[in-house]
Amino acid sequence: MLDRAQDGEVLFGGRPLASILEEARVSTPAYVYDLASMAAEARDVVDAFQGHPHLVAFAVKANSAGAVVRTLADAGCGAEVGSLAELEVAKSCGIDAHGLLLSGMGKSVAAIDAAIALGDRGIFAIQVDSIDELARIAGRARALGRAARIALRVNPAVRADTHAAIATGHEEAKFGIMRADLASAYGAIAREGAALRLVGLGGHVGSQLVRTDEYFEAAEELLGLAREWEAQGPPLELIDFGGGFGIDYGDGCPVRPRDFVTGIVARTRDAGLGGRAIVVEPGRSLVGAHGLLVASVVATKVAVERRWAVLDAGMSDLLRPALYGARHRIEPLRSAPCRDDATAASLRSRSWRVVGPVCESSDEFGEYLLPDPLPERVVLRDAGAYGFTMASNYNGRGLPAEVFVHASGELSVSRAGAAPAWIESRLAT
Ligand code: LLP
Repeated sequence: MLDRAQDGEVLFGGRPLASILEEARVSTPAYVYDLASMAAEARDVVDAFQGHPHLVAFAVKANSAGAVVRTLADAGCGAEVGSLAELEVAKSCGIDAHGLLLSGMGKSVAAIDAAIALGDRGIFAIQVDSIDELARIAGRARALGRAARIALRVNPAVRADTHAAIATGHEEAKFGIMRADLASAYGAIAREGAALRLVGLGGHVGSQLVRTDEYFEAAEELLGLAREWEAQGPPLELIDFGGGFGIDYGDGCPVRPRDFVTGIVARTRDAGLGGRAIVVEPGRSLVGAHGLLVASVVATKVAVERRWAVLDAGMSDLLRPALYGARHRIEPLRSAPCRDDATAASLRSRSWRVVGPVCESSDEFGEYLLPDPLPERVVLRDAGAYGFTMASNYNGRGLPAEVFVHASGELSVSRAGAAPAWIESRLAT
């Protein structure tokens, strides 16, 4: 949780952010995460099931740090993983085979093998994205002498009202098996015999959903398909409604993750499918608001009509603004003490185009009102999801440091991607 103390200091996880950075001995740019708030967020989603069989599978692509995945596992989450590396992280963080789902369009043989071979019966389900993939997975299952537990990822043909790049459940999207192709998929599964075991159906409409109706529309579609399947085949073990619960990036978000959950629990029961485990795959909503990126203002440039403030953090550290035009609130790390936000804004502030140091015009965070004189350091809020995981080494920039504020108040730090490692890897060619 981010707060501002009376003296203008940003408090994060109940502690002054500046003192966290000092104790962690990191320089900017650096991500800071509040693990206790992430755990509380996860418990809220888990509790919303009110005892209905469920799996809250955290989408590791949103934040793959061990400290984060372990925290969420302790709070009752499993994991949705999209690669062998994410599978390894989730497994090593204590999530057992029954709490894991593997999804993705172009799964590697190594990831499929690991998913089939894990534990006494493989992971909870491999989400199959196409009919072609069925034969690949069946082949690996036979080679390993096991049955692969699979769930079909259905394209529910619902266009979510979100950024086009993160709407995944409509007919033009590359994801999932179309309804019209399901009969062929069932036929292909039957032909593979004992190698494939269909345990579930699933779908994912998109990300950053700030309303529930589209999610429920897709849920109804999935429940109808599950009933159709069960009229002719063995009962399913799970129905996976996907992730996508939105957060408030500053423009508001009228729905909470538990609103999605209570709606699908009720619909699943009404459909007479109450015995099936309900799976949800939240990523952003568990971690997004509980991470921030701290950056320093390193330069300014004033042209006739334009004013640029240059940060030491750019699109290589936080790609979302450049890629989706996403806006992350940018605030001073320390602001002048004042009684309310309205007075704060009127206190000598100016509009700046805030940019990063990377050699791309799209390396821009947007236009922001910042105090005059400019603060030395700023925070970019709500960067706990798809921040570090989408960071890159472009321009030979090291990956930012990460600081984890544990519930105990202790800090842990990762500097795994610092620039010297990049230089070494380039010179070793
Ligand atoms: N399940 C599947 C199959 C997914 O593809 C995703 C996200 C999730 C779950 C988790 O969605 P969430 O609850 O986090 O919305 N980089 C983009 C978001 C891409 C989402 C990709 N898939 C962003 O920064 O907004």
